[in-house]
Amino acid sequence: MIQAICRFLTLKTPKHLIESNLAWAEKIKQKNPDFFATLSKQQAPEYLWIGCSDSRVPANQIIDIMPGEIFVHRNIANVVVHTDLNCLSVIQYAVEVLKVKHIIVCGHYGCGGIKAAIGDGEHGLIDNWLRHIKDVVRNHADELSALADDDLHNRVCELNVIEQVINVCNTTVVQRAWREGAELSVNAWIYSLENGIINDLDMSITSKQELKEKTQHFFNA
Ligand code: CO
Repeated sequence: MIQAICRFLTLKTPKHLIESNLAWAEKIKQKNPDFFATLSKQQAPEYLWIGCSDSRVPANQIIDIMPGEIFVHRNIANVVVHTDLNCLSVIQYAVEVLKVKHIIVCGHYGCGGIKAAIGDGEHGLIDNWLRHIKDVVRNHADELSALADDDLHNRVCELNVIEQVINVCNTTVVQRAWREGAELSVNAWIYSLENGIINDLDMSITSKQELKEKTQHFFNA
């Protein structure tokens, strides 16, 4: 009890982050005095990023772009579930209102969500979310049965991104956008925590027809 009270008394709010923010805003304004005034009037990003919540994979920083240039959705292990209204709403807003041209699903090697999904341990509520990755593992059991340890982990990270790209392509939002002639690509990327480099997983899809062709090849491989 006393320990708990002491901890409460010494707990400080993260005010230093507010100070960092002030310094950051000043720095940007020095370079471009109109930056925030212009950006506050509208956003017109060309990209939607769907990535992992992992603190080591911040979208804007790893592709080195400024606020206003990318619309972002992140969750554990960059999963796109057809009943997740949060993610679907982001996709709808990005495609129909912002009219982004490219959707990027970016996973990363060393993903804790993937590690947990491959293992047998219990982690509470999150295990329900990770079921979606266990489904990916089951869908590719033949290929994965030949792999172990890091090779297995890395391949599940890649297959998860590709499966989520397919899920994005099959949403009513993307299907309708393509049907109505929108120029929209959906891309599978993976980031390495070890060297900061993104690799393209060669699963970029720009139409319903391409989805059919590329996924047939992918599943028959
Ligand atoms: Co992750």
